[in-house]
Amino acid sequence: MANKLTQASFKKRFAFSNYQVILSGERILGIKMPGRIPKVVVIGGTYVDMAIRCGQIPAPGQTVTGAALSYAPTGPGPNQAAEAALCGCDVYLVSKVGGDPFAQMVKESLAEFNVNTQFVYAAEAKNTGIVVTLVNAEGENADCVYTGANSALRPQDIDTAEQIISEADVCLIHGRLPQQAIVAAIRCAKVHGTKVILNPARPIEQPSRQDIALPIEYFSADSLIPNLYEAADITEKSTANIRTAKLIGSDLVARGAASAIITMGKRGCMVVDRTGADHIPAFEVELVDQTGRGNAFAGAFAAYCAVKDDVREAAKFASAAGALACTKFGSIEALPTKAEIIELLQKEDIG
Ligand SMILES: Nc1ncnc2c1ncn2[C@@H]1O[C@H](COP(=O)(O)OP(=O)(O)OP(=O)(O)O)[C@@H](O)[C@H]1O
Ligand SMILES: [Mg+2]
Repeated sequence: MANKLTQASFKKRFAFSNYQVILSGERILGIKMPGRIPKVVVIGGTYVDMAIRCGQIPAPGQTVTGAALSYAPTGPGPNQAAEAALCGCDVYLVSKVGGDPFAQMVKESLAEFNVNTQFVYAAEAKNTGIVVTLVNAEGENADCVYTGANSALRPQDIDTAEQIISEADVCLIHGRLPQQAIVAAIRCAKVHGTKVILNPARPIEQPSRQDIALPIEYFSADSLIPNLYEAADITEKSTANIRTAKLIGSDLVARGAASAIITMGKRGCMVVDRTGADHIPAFEVELVDQTGRGNAFAGAFAAYCAVKDDVREAAKFASAAGALACTKFGSIEALPTKAEIIELLQKEDIG
């Protein structure tokens, strides 16, 4: 065991030293990855989004006629994995689907994004997680989320994926999963010297805030990337805002996280680590549909961290991804490529 670990960490460090981000001032010209492709393992919930457009969202007892139906894989698992793959990483998704036809649909779609689904397990007796969305004429949504097979992700499933977690540069974990699986994933990644990025959303089995008692493992993450509401939740503050983001970030770092990046939608994000706090403003873009922005941010952040150890640069790269996800309809189909992200970074530099 000890030998294997040392070899894995050595291999990673050795390869890591080869990566180069080509900068001109603040401008990212490209990311050179001689040697090997950066590897990212994403652990997150998988859902199928069934969206129906209707004139108005029906009240209880009312029936309305749907105008259009679409269904596509969604959730932090597929979306963050697809974003990291679009950024050029070798990506594995660890997640759980049901024993229904949606499972195959999800896997095929992920394969189109070049995401490896070897560790997308099937809980045959369960259904794949589903989000039923009704969209009215004004573009407002009403959602019902059924967690399905996501609630059956177990620590043993993480053990089965230990080899790829040990080989990865980054393990990106989304908190809306069973807590024991998250803790197992953090422990596994830490043991193998794999960087941990955790979006500490509330675990599946803790629907209400008063149950919250976060395991200490959460604070061994290299980066915690909550949004303002998640940050308020885990620091037991009733509200969080741009002024308190810095304090909340410092609190998370004081509790052990190497860095905390609090995302604040169009107000940008706050990066806090032991060297200080920096606000990274959001990119100005033409808003079409904000779905998927958080997942675009997380996937791109992980991809950058897999290449280079600089959370501020990573947060800027991820901010461009989050902004671009707002410029198109949909979630997985609206995620930007690395080339699009770099183009936006360059535009801002010139402008
Ligand atoms: N309207 C916007 N304009 C520009 N950039 C945005 C906008 N909304 C989000 N972003 C970028 O994306 C990042 C993540 O967004 P946000 O904080 O809304 O995530 P989130 O609440 O986790 O989203 P989600 O609900 O999709 O998970 C922001 O920090 C910002 O950089
Ligand atoms: Mg989010």
